[in-house]
Amino acid sequence: MDNFIFRNPTKIYFGKGMEEKCGEAVSDFSKKVLLHYGGGSIKKTGLYDRVIASLEKAGVQWVELPGVKPNPRLSLVYEGIRICRKEDIDFILAVGGGSVIDSAKAIAAGVPYEGDVWDFYEGKAVPSEVIGIGTILTIPAAGSESSSGTVITKEEGQLKRPFGSELLYPDFSILNPELAMTLPPFQRACGVADMMAHLFERYFTNSRPVELTDRMIEGALKTIIHNAPKIMGDDADYDSWSEIMWSGTVAHNGSLNTGRLGDWGSHQIEHELSGIYDVAHGAGLAVVFPSWMRYVMNHDIKRFVQIAVRVWNVEADYYSDEETAEAGIVALEAFWQSLGLATRLEGLGIPADRLEEMAGKCAGETDNPQGQFVKLYKKDVLAILQGAL
Ligand code: NZQ
Ligand code: ZN
Repeated sequence: MDNFIFRNPTKIYFGKGMEEKCGEAVSDFSKKVLLHYGGGSIKKTGLYDRVIASLEKAGVQWVELPGVKPNPRLSLVYEGIRICRKEDIDFILAVGGGSVIDSAKAIAAGVPYEGDVWDFYEGKAVPSEVIGIGTILTIPAAGSESSSGTVITKEEGQLKRPFGSELLYPDFSILNPELAMTLPPFQRACGVADMMAHLFERYFTNSRPVELTDRMIEGALKTIIHNAPKIMGDDADYDSWSEIMWSGTVAHNGSLNTGRLGDWGSHQIEHELSGIYDVAHGAGLAVVFPSWMRYVMNHDIKRFVQIAVRVWNVEADYYSDEETAEAGIVALEAFWQSLGLATRLEGLGIPADRLEEMAGKCAGETDNPQGQFVKLYKKDVLAILQGAL
């Protein structure tokens, strides 16, 4: 196991009706908040009214900033920073999914910073202070509700870039699985693919030995594989949603990468797809990951055999590790397809003409490699994208 320091400070409120505690939870930090949300799903579902009632009951004032788009945009972040400064707001309540929460994190880092908040995403600066954030999660997927990361798209240049800071963990997150039941099936499937991808990014490591976290990741994957088909229908039960929602948080709250170094190359490649084609993050990952797996599997074939056997119940081929590993990847593709996801670029409507451009934005010829399990340069990223055609 590698040395590690682990701390996740996000306080979790999990279960039915927990959103009604949001006013109380916020008032531990502030009496005036920015209420940040997306394109309106929270109004359609009635969640907005419950949030407002809870804030009013707790005597918390709010200023609203709706309009976060999936693949959240930098321009709205600037707007949020401007509002918080003008209204003297020191806490953000983000109600929605990863996009709303990531936008809130960007605003939180930008308010006290004198420079351009995009500096953080370009690695030119690190935040030394942020304003507070609380979240009410409406889609189990990105894990941003308990992560230190944020991913924002800068419209100019179609650049989608992440950055992380210990300061960005939300102060609290409210997780009521019932809130996710209004999601359209495509978003359900995308969320499942994303949380599985977060587990894969951690699983494929060169750190040794990592038995406990290997088995924890395998357990989380098996839980998702068992419950995801159950949440795809309209008659999905609360218990299956609970398993999926908590899996999504645990997959990305840092506990499963204790003592091991994750990869994250596939995420970086996916950001190029979302940056240019505005595809849902989970949908992009369902295309990138199988191709990445095939490209790197001979780096450590035993790791691919292990996941095939332990997670996908593949019968080991004792004469060919490649056959066993490949059967695991095929099982993953079949699983994602069974949820309605495409596993090829064509299925996302992405043609072959900009692969070279995406590879070049993602990694250099000889510098800026992506990934830790296997370092990927531009030619490798290109081969992975071509493998996904
Ligand atoms: O905008 P509204 O109207 O709310 O609709 C949203 C949006 O269109 C809808 N939705 C959410 N909850 C709903 C609902 N519709 C009906 N009922 C509900 N209960 O779903 C759509 C997608 O929402 P979004 O927030 O974009 O989804 P997700 O949570 O998958 O977030 C994706 C973003 O998170 C980033 C991704 O890159 C992407 O930009 N990630 C953030 C990470 C982090 N900060 O740690 C890690 C991840 O790897 C990921 O990169
Ligand atoms: Zn992700």
